[in-house]
Amino acid sequence: MRYVPINYLEEGMILGKTLYGENGEILLREDSIIQLTYLKKMILLGYSGIYIKDELSEDIVVDDVINEELKMKTIKSIKDLMNTGSKNRKIASSLDNIENLISSIIEEISCKDDLIVNMLDLKVANNYVFYHSVNVSVLSLVLGVAMKLNKDDLYLLGVSALLHDIGKKFIPNEILEKTTALDKREIDIVKKHSEDGYRYIKERFIVHTKVYMGVFQHHERHNGDGYPLNIKGENISLFARIIAISDVYDTLTSNRPNSKGVLPSEAMEYIMANGGSMFHPEVVKIFATKIAPYPVGTCVKLSNGSIAVIVENYSVCCLRPLIKVIETNGKSVTPYNMELKDSNLNVTIIGIADEIK
Ligand SMILES: [Fe+2]
Repeated sequence: MRYVPINYLEEGMILGKTLYGENGEILLREDSIIQLTYLKKMILLGYSGIYIKDELSEDIVVDDVINEELKMKTIKSIKDLMNTGSKNRKIASSLDNIENLISSIIEEISCKDDLIVNMLDLKVANNYVFYHSVNVSVLSLVLGVAMKLNKDDLYLLGVSALLHDIGKKFIPNEILEKTTALDKREIDIVKKHSEDGYRYIKERFIVHTKVYMGVFQHHERHNGDGYPLNIKGENISLFARIIAISDVYDTLTSNRPNSKGVLPSEAMEYIMANGGSMFHPEVVKIFATKIAPYPVGTCVKLSNGSIAVIVENYSVCCLRPLIKVIETNGKSVTPYNMELKDSNLNVTIIGIADEIK
């Protein structure tokens, strides 16, 4: 299986992973042959690309961090919670549901040894905030497991990360869905969401302080340049430091109503460049070992002019993955490990290749 940007998809290609619509419904099943009508719909829905199956990538397996069913259930739960009227007091049961889902996500992540997140998420621009909440929760938990947080804290971290943007329920849709740049007044309204979310959770649910402090502080920055309180360094809670990085990574890599997502490698570079200024340096260090800048299935350009597909990433060094070089006749050769092959130690990945021909 390999990832193909939407502009390079062709009729007749075979779908590698099931595609879901904005409400979690199945749009197109794995193994479907792509037709022109499907292609047009994918563009309309805002997909950046999809996974396809072909001969040269047939032995490449793209593992999901959590299974699709659990992901869709969690998306539905956070959507129900965010769409519930703010005066409805019956929502406590929704949080029970969320707590059970977080336990299942922790179980899935914890049982995968040496997990590297290969995140080329196939999310659509509509319903962005719900997909985003789940992604931030999963990414935060991957970091939490790597930081060896205890089970109780992992669970609280997952809930806090899932609820981090719940205050956005108070932002009018015309601002959330605006496709042009926000003005000063609109930015001020958006910036209230961390405080609004904190109040909403604190007043409505009986949860640990760590949960609502993670929500309250997730836009604070290590150097004090964040909001709402401009606190800095160790004054920012551990949960907020973790959620901040997961939030920025997923935001940057997503297509949103008013901007196009960047590649995982570009988002990682941004986070690493801001380690010690915007982000806590220790959390950034761990992040760099758990997230693949070039996810499995991505086609990349090498410094020697070759094109290759990523087969597997290693936490020791995500920039030296197992790759499969594509020959000029479109056939692949045996995969080689960039870290081990002596004659290729000077070969580096220099960027993403859109086309393999
Ligand atoms: Fe936020």
